[in-house]
Amino acid sequence: MSFREVLTRRGDRLHLEDVAVARLAEEFDTPLYAYSRAALVERAERFERAFGNTPHLVAYSIKANLNLAIAHVFTRCGLGIDVTSRGELERALRVGARPENIVFAGAGKRADEIDLALAVGIRMLNLESLEELECVATRARERGTVAPVAFRLNPDIDPQTHPHIATGLRTAKFGIPIEEAREAYARAKALPGIRVVGVDFHIGSQITSLAPFREALGRMRAIVLDLQADGHAIEVIDVGGGLGVEYTGQDRPPTPEDYVGVVRKTVGDLGATVVIEPGRSLTANAGVLISRVLYRKTNGDRRFVIVDGGMNDYLRPMLYGAHTRIETDPLRPGSEAPVDVVGPICESTDRFAEDRLLSPVEPGDLVVLRDVGAYGFCMSSTYNGRPLVAEVLVNGERADLICERQTVEETWARERIPEESP
Ligand code: LLP
Repeated sequence: MSFREVLTRRGDRLHLEDVAVARLAEEFDTPLYAYSRAALVERAERFERAFGNTPHLVAYSIKANLNLAIAHVFTRCGLGIDVTSRGELERALRVGARPENIVFAGAGKRADEIDLALAVGIRMLNLESLEELECVATRARERGTVAPVAFRLNPDIDPQTHPHIATGLRTAKFGIPIEEAREAYARAKALPGIRVVGVDFHIGSQITSLAPFREALGRMRAIVLDLQADGHAIEVIDVGGGLGVEYTGQDRPPTPEDYVGVVRKTVGDLGATVVIEPGRSLTANAGVLISRVLYRKTNGDRRFVIVDGGMNDYLRPMLYGAHTRIETDPLRPGSEAPVDVVGPICESTDRFAEDRLLSPVEPGDLVVLRDVGAYGFCMSSTYNGRPLVAEVLVNGERADLICERQTVEETWARERIPEESP
């Protein structure tokens, strides 16, 4: 089953749900991130429903989109949250996630982050090294508590995705090698202050075929059976995130139902609660970045459309060579022609698309980047002295500001000029 369209054309004008993109640009200015609430809810509900009667927790990987309003939509749908820092943990609590529905991963958790996780009583800490295990045990004993932990195991799988977002290969910094799992769990079991509750893995992101998941899940199943035979009570099997989304129009990623089906089939019968940590697949397609055309020009034989959004606002095309679908508003008559869509940043790589076939545009028109709801605003910066842009959440005919546009003064508000020595 495919998803409902997030962006639709009514006549020549683009709409996000029932709100004209032009109205959003007018009311909130550009560049502007806008998200469809219905799209977020649709995705959350489809992951939830796909589990049927299998004990599970869908933990939204909040790194994909940190905005409180977005995370709040998900906690309202009954989702938990996967966090990777103190900031994310505090956001999860702020939007009402119950501590027992929060899991915490990351190769470099600081002592204060571990302390907070223990103090609020999260579901489990996903440990990534033996030294971290010792640190968590010490912190727990000092607090007079017991830390619920899993090890993130590295199953050495090639997720067939962009190398920058592959995490389950032996050479990645993540997790501990799966062959060392039994030894690590034995060590953990013997440590006061530690309670082993689960296993965890995450092999990468934007994975558009089920094969790598099947392979990793098969390896996890085998190791869970070994650990159970060793006498460990495995209450939680956390299979991470990574499900890919449609970016190009030709990706055809598995649906939530296909993906959860494979997860349930492989590890759903082991007597444990199954945790998944989707990030991108919950938010990417729900968000757009609206920019305005400033100028057009031709340099040599290249035609450029210069817009007011730049790589500081949306970095994925530049960082990962990610293809980003682009719509124009209004849709003007005339044949499509290849153009480079570029921003105002002083870098040649500040280009959202190269040789893209677009309908004619004029200064003042809108250019809408699709599928930017994940790893978009949260990876933006103030490079070139550009304030962070605004975000709005669209719900039917309604559009609520969910993050104010930063002012120029705010970009330097925490900076200080020391007094000059004479
Ligand atoms: N769980 C863990 C432990 C993770 O490290 C991640 C993502 C997720 C879950 C969520 O994965 P997702 O379902 O979103 O694929 N900035 C990159 C993506 C980095 C992903 C980092 N970890 C990008 O824009 O493609």
